[in-house]
Amino acid sequence: MGYDRMSRILHWLTALIVLAMIPVGLVMTNVDDRAIQDPLFIFHKNAGALLIVLIALRLAWRATHRAPPLPDSLPAIQKFAARGTHVILYLMLIVMAVSGYVRVRAGGFPVEMLDAIGLPHFVPRDDALAETAKSIHARAKFGIGLFLVLHVGAAAYHGLVRRDGVFSRMWPPTASPTRVP
Ligand code: HEM
Ligand code: HEM
Repeated sequence: MGYDRMSRILHWLTALIVLAMIPVGLVMTNVDDRAIQDPLFIFHKNAGALLIVLIALRLAWRATHRAPPLPDSLPAIQKFAARGTHVILYLMLIVMAVSGYVRVRAGGFPVEMLDAIGLPHFVPRDDALAETAKSIHARAKFGIGLFLVLHVGAAAYHGLVRRDGVFSRMWPPTASPTRVP
């Protein structure tokens, strides 16, 4: 028994955006050429804004839809590790998205897509707040990076080594929940 279609779609859309945003974030803060930085900043901020909406939808969906039970063959410690990693990934997504947004708005920078639709900023212009958010964003990237490595490593272990059907609980991205591995 796998995840329902909406959970899968939201998971893979989030994954696609996050896995693109991390290298873009690292490059844009490490190159000196504005011609390269500017489009990357625009991509990172606007994909980030989209991600905030997706995370909110995902949490709302998850709060109202239970995850399917893991197979009985899985040792209790691995079930615990899987659940713990998932909770931490949700928390890290929130920390990264909120600190990124606050860093940009408190710093007085635009988020082009949101400005185009006239959305209020929700965060006051405040340099000290922008610096704090920037430092949280820069530190938390190690946290999300570490747990993503564990998560993707575990997914590969289930999909390629154990072949116990755990990977196909989430893959393919649009399958229905009744699809039995
Ligand atoms: C190549 C990349 C990825 C692969 C192969 C992958 C694979 C999977 C699989 C197989 C599951 C189901 C696990 C289970 O049945 O218990 C899952 C769940 C999950 N994944 Fe990923 N994932 C990837 C990327 C990501 C990313 C980038 C994030 C977010 C930062 C993420 C967050 C989650 C969360 C939070 C769950 C738990 C879903 C829930 O129960 O609410 N994944 N992933
Ligand atoms: C899960 C979501 C996000 C991830 C994984 C992510 C990842 C990153 C990474 C890895 C960096 C490089 C940081 C460094 O090495 O110092 C970065 C920088 C940055 N991110 Fe994000 N980010 C996310 C969300 C956002 C959002 C929503 C925004 C704004 C709307 C944003 C705006 C920025 C800005 C402005 C920087 C440059 C910070 C600076 O040095 O001034 N990020 N991000």
